[in-house]
Amino acid sequence: MTTMVLAYDYTREEEKRIIRAAKNAGIKLILCNLLESPLDYSDRWDVDAAIIRPVSMFNAVYAASYFESMKVLTVNPSYTILYAGDKVLTYSLLRSANIPIPRTILSLGDDSLYAAAKRLGFPLVDKPPIGSWGRLVSLVENEHQLTTIAEHRAMLPSKQFRAHILQEYIATANADIRCLMVGDEVIGCIKRIARRGEWRSNVALGARVEPYKPDSELIELVHKALTVFKGMFLSIDIFEHKENGYLVNEVNGVPEFKGFIRATGIRVEEILIGKILEKLRR
Ligand SMILES: Nc1ncnc2c1ncn2[C@@H]1O[C@H](COP(=O)(O)OP(=O)(O)O)[C@@H](O)[C@H]1O
Ligand SMILES: [Mg+2]
Repeated sequence: MTTMVLAYDYTREEEKRIIRAAKNAGIKLILCNLLESPLDYSDRWDVDAAIIRPVSMFNAVYAASYFESMKVLTVNPSYTILYAGDKVLTYSLLRSANIPIPRTILSLGDDSLYAAAKRLGFPLVDKPPIGSWGRLVSLVENEHQLTTIAEHRAMLPSKQFRAHILQEYIATANADIRCLMVGDEVIGCIKRIARRGEWRSNVALGARVEPYKPDSELIELVHKALTVFKGMFLSIDIFEHKENGYLVNEVNGVPEFKGFIRATGIRVEEILIGKILEKLRR
């Protein structure tokens, strides 16, 4: 009997779906709640695969590295979750692979913030390296707002929030394209359209979703991203730029997919379990 472990902290709709799909496939699934279960390096884990699902990015990286140390097929590997989970690492990796990204400037200290803004001009987008659901992603219209954002960020307890990612604001009509990859296949794409009065197209912020038919250029681009991020379960978010074409904005190594299912009806969790079983058989 195939045995898998699900490492998680909160059970969202996605985790419930994975639990059901594993059960339906006849897999013995061990639930490892990271808020309750210590991870002991002297334990032996007799499992075939680990599915990594914590909401917390660092807990996901750490859980993945722990199960990798047990020689278990880990979906996704710690490398993938780390590089996708930190936007600075993401943009650096994409840039190194010549994958187009929005015009992006890093500011790691006070004065460089204004120098970066001067290069980009206003409006611009400011975001921290780590975060999700659109939180702290700000549309900045002038230097006063930039100063305020920098002051607020400086008051946050984690030093990590002092780093700023500044980007050109891309007129996307408040929408982006999310491509979901399982194994080495694009299983589908959706368009996420921000709700009225919101410019960010996160489903967590109430965005509307609809199925999206990718062209061959888009498919080629996301495959190229998969070769550098590795892993076997990724979502890749794309902006369409009027002059520069497709730009990769974000990669997620622990993707949420309830919006994707709502738009497409594709049972992501079943495909995921199937692909993991296929990989174990190889
Ligand atoms: N440079 C940009 N130009 C236009 N819109 C952007 C830009 N960066 C982010 N957004 C909008 O904000 C949303 C959240 O930003 P994102 O970088 O994906 O952070 P998060 O990890 O919080 O989702 C995106 O889905 C998009 O709608
Ligand atoms: Mg996003």
